[in-house]
Amino acid sequence: MPNWLNDAVFYEIYPQSFCDSNADGIGDFQGIISRLDYIRDLGFNALWINPCFDSPFRDAGYDVRDYKKTAARYGTNEDLVRLFEEAHSRGIHVLLDLVPGHTSEEHEWFRKSCSLEKNEFSDRYIWTDFCFRGAGNFGYPYIGGEAERPGTYLLNFFKCQPALNYGWLDADESWKCASDGDAARSTVEAVKDVMRFWMDRGCDGFRVDMAASLVKGDDEKKTGTSRIWKEIRAMLDRDYPECALVSEWSHPELSLKAGFHADFLLNEADSPYSTLVRDYQNHAGSLVYSDPFFTGEDPDCDMKYEDHSFFRMDAGGDITRFMDGYLKLYEETKDLGYISLITCNHDTVRPSFGLTPEELKLFYAFLFTMPGVPFLYYGDEIGQRYLSLRTLEGGYFRTGSRSPMQWSRDKNLGFSDADEKDLYLPVDPAGDAPVVSEMLEDPSSLLHMVRSILSLRHKDPDLQAVPNLKILYMEKGSLPFVYQRGERICAVNPSSECVSAAVDVPDRQALWQIGSGTLAGGMVTLQPQSFIVF
Ligand code: NOJ
Repeated sequence: MPNWLNDAVFYEIYPQSFCDSNADGIGDFQGIISRLDYIRDLGFNALWINPCFDSPFRDAGYDVRDYKKTAARYGTNEDLVRLFEEAHSRGIHVLLDLVPGHTSEEHEWFRKSCSLEKNEFSDRYIWTDFCFRGAGNFGYPYIGGEAERPGTYLLNFFKCQPALNYGWLDADESWKCASDGDAARSTVEAVKDVMRFWMDRGCDGFRVDMAASLVKGDDEKKTGTSRIWKEIRAMLDRDYPECALVSEWSHPELSLKAGFHADFLLNEADSPYSTLVRDYQNHAGSLVYSDPFFTGEDPDCDMKYEDHSFFRMDAGGDITRFMDGYLKLYEETKDLGYISLITCNHDTVRPSFGLTPEELKLFYAFLFTMPGVPFLYYGDEIGQRYLSLRTLEGGYFRTGSRSPMQWSRDKNLGFSDADEKDLYLPVDPAGDAPVVSEMLEDPSSLLHMVRSILSLRHKDPDLQAVPNLKILYMEKGSLPFVYQRGERICAVNPSSECVSAAVDVPDRQALWQIGSGTLAGGMVTLQPQSFIVF
């Protein structure tokens, strides 16, 4: 386990929309470099940058055309190396986004794989042996009729993203390669080669896209895929022991055993977005998918839904809806690695869509005082809004969370000097769109709250990633929620009522707070909308 992860707090950057240094309307590496002081001063000491490699951008860069070359719109490989160096000189680590499950259909490997003549890349992707059949019972999507080769090929996500071939756990048909056979081996070696390429140039690790998706026909425990990650981790431990691996898997009980150091908790049913910030339940109490355009009514079944998100004031939220699932995973994995909670990411709706700035403060205070390695998505520190935008680069509803960072009241909110019509995406048109420059001036802003809780976390080893969580008070339908981290006790009350609960701990003073409260005589008492670290 790289030691630096214990005190790491990540800032996710969607490079298209962060900062444009050359007025072409799209963000770039130099723009990121110019904002590193800002990121460090807020208290973030690690970055995750979404894919920044050569790509036709049919899925915002998750369709990689060349893993070893940066996309010209962001800058050159040398610029990216300079970004690593500038980040390191400020104590900031940098994770790149590794997309091992698929490439762009424009990747050279895929072009060669389509050829009728057998070549080195014929088995780099998953081809069936007949032009009119797909992948049997497994239901993987496939494409036919595009290549001269008389077979169909499997997709991993969009049509533009053919699946790389890591073989099948159960290679029961002649066209299926075994997950430990030569074809699968050569794909694994190719991915290792890409990782080495960027590690040798100074990156500090990878966020791994769809990490569970490698071996097809895999079992529930992902035996085949896990074997590959264990092998990759062994290579990294040997040659790059400080390299961090964070998975998009959302099953820490599998991913951490497979060798990842941290795993995002993303499942809608137990993620921060649903039960903590957008918890739409019908009257029977069941959760529905948190759709940004959801109105609270289901036209098909005449059912009314209410938002019972925990951090919404007076929504009657229930922390056990989140914590029951979380604690199960936490107990099972706490000695293996970390669970990563996030404010949101480039695939989800921003938390400001459901919560007011005051509610966001409570949500973030919780997020940054929990164990594991937390991530904040750019703009969430100012409560940047989810916008209603036309889809771009395969974003669909996700596009609304990808609008340009709002730096100031200058042209294009300080994101770019380009003409408005040339911007990658429009900036928030609202007159009261939150901006960094104004929040920096306001000590009571969300931004200052983020800075202050991160400063507390960095000073106090008990509040870092370490698995020292103990629940002191958590009851269904009752507040506050109280938990212990080593010597520290955290208590939160999102409601508009004063609440209290009995806890079996000695009296303590408040060390950090939103709102107010006390911990004395075996009782913790919290005023409305309060979060206290005792
Ligand atoms: C997950 C990424 O976060 C998402 O943005 C992308 O579209 C898919 N994986 C496919 O790579």
